[in-house]
Amino acid sequence: MPDNVLEAVGLHRAYGSVRAVDDVSFTLPEGGSLGIVGESGSGKTTTARIVVGLEQADSGDVLVRGRARDARGRGRTRRLARAREVQMVFQDPYLSLDPRTSVEQVLREALRLHFPDTDHDRRVRELLDQVGLGTRAADARPRQLSGGQRQRVAIARALAVEPAVLVLDEAVAALDVSVQAQILNLLADIREETRIGYLFITHDLGVVRCVTDDVIVMRKGRVVEAGPTAEVLAAPRHPYTRLLLESVPRPGWDPEAIAAARRAL
Ligand SMILES: Nc1ncnc2c1ncn2[C@@H]1O[C@H](COP(=O)(O)OP(=O)(O)OP(=O)(O)O)[C@@H](O)[C@H]1O
Ligand SMILES: [Mg+2]
Repeated sequence: MPDNVLEAVGLHRAYGSVRAVDDVSFTLPEGGSLGIVGESGSGKTTTARIVVGLEQADSGDVLVRGRARDARGRGRTRRLARAREVQMVFQDPYLSLDPRTSVEQVLREALRLHFPDTDHDRRVRELLDQVGLGTRAADARPRQLSGGQRQRVAIARALAVEPAVLVLDEAVAALDVSVQAQILNLLADIREETRIGYLFITHDLGVVRCVTDDVIVMRKGRVVEAGPTAEVLAAPRHPYTRLLLESVPRPGWDPEAIAAARRAL
């Protein structure tokens, strides 16, 4: 149990009559990578937002290193420490980066908040290096960067606060396939170096195959299948997972094909 860096226990979240998240549980071991897959609207993002603390669950618990994430901390320091533990990287870094703020300022801001007493100059250089952005990128504004570079900035900002878990919600979905591969490789390297756990949300089973150890498959808010990624993809038990796999002729999947296959069921 203490070996799990993240644990979700019986999460529920409804929006009116829509059960967006309906009894979702999973565990993420220290340094592990867990994929969440499922078609659009299956509850992946809602689950992620609950885990990160952007959304409140109706019921259920999120435990980080065995402690309830939502436990009301005593004082600002405690709350900041909690906020640090789980960091999110969104699909479109353009939307999560202020257009007027330089790369260096983005990183300094995160460092100032969480580590007011450390040497930020050195840390900024380390972070840029860690995500493969040269120090020349430090002065750039988001619009001067490519999509892949912006995603590197978003990853660096998340790493700046030294989290235990990174939640990546469709973090490479907006990128060209070749750039996707670069970012996925970068994330694999970072996981090896840092042992940060990943919760990797994607509708792309090719991505899941690349970067996760375990996977859960969601459908209509529920977990319909869970297990080691290699096993689930090699021998899916649930008809829905089979359907997902059959509709993936290449990396990524075609929503049209899935819709057609479902109508034919
Ligand atoms: N803030 C909200 N208000 C009302 N309904 C919501 C809200 N957020 C999500 N939902 C609904 O909850 C369900 C799950 O949505 P969610 O965004 O979690 O799915 P998803 O698996 O991330 O989908 P996608 O692959 O398209 O990103 C959907 O039916 C969605 O319409
Ligand atoms: Mg989503």
